[in-house]
Amino acid sequence: MTAEVRQHSPASVGGKRPRFAHPAEAEFAAFLDFYRIAWEYEPRTFPLRWENGRVIEQFTPDFYLPEQDLYVELTTMKQSLVTRKHRKVRRLKELYPHVNIVLLYRKDYHEILSRFGYGSVDITSLRPDQIERVLLSPAEIQRRVAELGRQISEDYAGASLVLVGVLKGITFFLADLARAITRPLAIDYLQLTRDLREGVAIRKDLDLDIRGKHVLLVEDIVNTGLTVDFILRTLREREPASLEVCALLDKAERRLVPVPVKYVGFTIPNEFVVGYGLDYRELYRNLPFICVLKREVYEANGNGYTIGEPPQEAAIAASARSVVGSELVTGSGWQDGQK
Ligand code: IMP
Repeated sequence: MTAEVRQHSPASVGGKRPRFAHPAEAEFAAFLDFYRIAWEYEPRTFPLRWENGRVIEQFTPDFYLPEQDLYVELTTMKQSLVTRKHRKVRRLKELYPHVNIVLLYRKDYHEILSRFGYGSVDITSLRPDQIERVLLSPAEIQRRVAELGRQISEDYAGASLVLVGVLKGITFFLADLARAITRPLAIDYLQLTRDLREGVAIRKDLDLDIRGKHVLLVEDIVNTGLTVDFILRTLREREPASLEVCALLDKAERRLVPVPVKYVGFTIPNEFVVGYGLDYRELYRNLPFICVLKREVYEANGNGYTIGEPPQEAAIAASARSVVGSELVTGSGWQDGQK
C-alpha cells in the first residue's frame, strides 16, 4: 500500500479553480498551494445582523483551511477597510464563538505558517525562497503516518514487535510511527557507513537479540534499494520470526535491487529531498515538512565543512563526490559516508 504524492494542493485536486474576486486572493491561494495547505474559497456565509427576521448584514470570509479549521479574511493596509473588517470579525466571534478566524495582512502570510506546523522554516536558516517545491506538508505526513500506524497495528494484532530504525534519517518518522502503533513494541537502532571501496557496513549494531521476534525495519527512504537489501540480508541471518519493511518514502524509479517494502508512506519522484529527518550534509532534518531545495542551496554547501561533518567524513565525502558528482542533487542518496 502506498500513496502517490499529489501534484496539486488538496483543495485544487479535482475541483475547478474558483474565480477570485481580488488578485490578493489568487496570490494567497498560490501561497497555500506552494505549502500544500488545503483550502476552500468562500465556502460559508455568516449572518451578522437581522431586522424583522431578515438578514441585513452578513460576512463571507475569503478562505477556509479545513486542516486547521481556520477561516482567513485577507485585508490590505487601507485603514477604512481594516476597521470595517475588524468590526465584522469581532461580531462574528461574538455570535459564533466556536469559529476560528484570522484577519491577515499580506506581510503576515509567512508568519501564519507556524500555525500549520511550518515553524521551522525560520529556525533552520532556510529562507522560503530557497525552497524549490514542498512535496509533503506536515499535515499530509501526519495523516499518512497515522494510517500506516493503524495498518501495522491491524496486521500485528495479538503480537508484539521490534521496530528497527536506521539512523539518523529515521529520527522523526520512527518517533511518530511508534506512537501510532497500538501494539507492544521495542525500539532499536542500526547505523551504517558506506564507503565506495568497502560498500555498506554496520557502524552501530542492534542492542536487542531479534531471534524469534517480529521485526519491522523502518527506513526513511528507499532509493536504489542497496541499503535495505544489505540490512535485510544481515538481519535474516539472526532468524527473526518475521521481517518486514516500512519506508516513509519510496523513489521507486531509482531501484537497482528489488526489495520487498510492505508499507510505503509515499511514492515520490526522483528528486533529492530534505526535511522530517532527511538531511543534506546534516542540515534541514528538523524541517517539519519534506521539500526539494533550490539547486543553489546544495551548491553553496558543496565546499568546506558543514555542521556535523567531521574532517574524516569530509574526506570520504570529497572522494564520494568526485565519483558521484551532481548525483548528490539528483538523488543518488548517499552522502558524506554516513547516513
Ligand atoms: P539506497 O541505498 O539507494 O536505497 O539509499 C537509501 C538511503 O539514502 C536513505 O536511507 C537515505 O539516507 C539516503 N537518501 C536517498 N535519497 C535521499 C534523499 O532524497 N534525501 C536524503 N537522503 C536520501
